[in-house]
Amino acid sequence: MHANQSPSKARSQEPNTHVTSGRRTVMASKGTTAVPEVALGSGNARPMPVVGMGTAAIPPAPEATKDAVLAAIEVGYRHFDTAALYGTEKPLGEAVAEAARRGLIQSREEVFVTSKLWCTQCHPDLVLPALRQTLRNLQMEYVDLYLIHWPVALKPGPITFPAKREDAVPLDVEGVWRAMEECQRLGLAKAIGVSNFTTKHLDKVLAVATIPPAVNQVELNPVWQQRTLRTYCAEKGIHVAAYSPLGGQNLDGTGNAVMASEVLAGIAKARGKTIAQVSLRWIYEQGVTSIAKSYNVERLKQNLEIFDWELTDEDWLKISQIQQKKVVKGIDLFSREGEFTSVDTADLDVVE
Ligand SMILES: NC(=O)c1ccc[n+]([C@@H]2O[C@H](COP(=O)([O-])OP(=O)(O)OC[C@H]3O[C@@H](n4cnc5c(N)ncnc54)[C@H](OP(=O)(O)O)[C@@H]3O)[C@@H](O)[C@H]2O)c1
Repeated sequence: MHANQSPSKARSQEPNTHVTSGRRTVMASKGTTAVPEVALGSGNARPMPVVGMGTAAIPPAPEATKDAVLAAIEVGYRHFDTAALYGTEKPLGEAVAEAARRGLIQSREEVFVTSKLWCTQCHPDLVLPALRQTLRNLQMEYVDLYLIHWPVALKPGPITFPAKREDAVPLDVEGVWRAMEECQRLGLAKAIGVSNFTTKHLDKVLAVATIPPAVNQVELNPVWQQRTLRTYCAEKGIHVAAYSPLGGQNLDGTGNAVMASEVLAGIAKARGKTIAQVSLRWIYEQGVTSIAKSYNVERLKQNLEIFDWELTDEDWLKISQIQQKKVVKGIDLFSREGEFTSVDTADLDVVE
């Protein structure tokens, strides 16, 4: 896809302007960066800081995760993203508890924590037990946001990755969403949402929801802009969060198209910023929250230094014309061997 909107048009069609109006800037503690926050359209979560720290370390690194989260809290992060799949709930919880003990934060209430329901537990009767396990791992009484990780159900059992193709079973959207709503009603999740959902999947959730999803977390960056999905979510009051905002961790071995972008490199040079900062700033200007993973303190700091400068209309135009490429594909959830029994993978990667 080539995006060829003019920047002024793009700005006037800015999909999440109603969300941006809910933004507020919070005072930073001494020596930390203030991160603006966005009020979510459903649920009772505290406002979400618009840059969060990702904790999907590959390969998994629990001790490094704890140290990195502590370093992140020290430099100003108050938003953390984890999942049952990542194996980082425990070290994240330990780091938050340690930060409170050290007085870096007053209490757990100061941080926004997201976790996710894995596909093996994407069954109506397994949602609540899965969240209770997540809370035990985190040693917390609630998560701020609980997401369905993928619109995919796998046969119940231990978390394995990649999954066997023959383990895919039909997803009971209504039953699972009812169970997610129950998690919010019980106060175990302050807000609920989804991840990797296309507009088609969201239609199905919205058709049965009493509590609409507050957030859809999807792959999003200048190289995978998700314009149609963003417009849809803005219309429905669903906040969009961007994973792999820096182009990801080169999981498919084809390199990092964000970091390799000459367009982004040119803008970064002209602005005296890094490519990472240009990408994060562009995402912020779209009204989208970034979940960026770094376990390096200098890069953690750098990724927050995006709030006191702007991209120009010309930058927007150039970025709108970047050749588009999706990296995280639904099919990658599954091992190469075996037959699909009940999941249409074409449905997972709709180009929107
Ligand atoms: N919902 C989902 O299905 C899903 C899927 C993927 C990811 N996620 C979430 O989103 C988070 C982020 O996505 P991601 O990990 O795929 O990719 P990402 O945040 O786009 O990129 C992470 C990579 O960029 C490097 N990096 C970080 N800051 C940098 C900077 N300023 N300059 C240069 N390199 C930098 C990191 O290395 P260092 O650590 O060495 O700095 C790491 O290799 C994950 O951790 C996870 O929490 C969710």
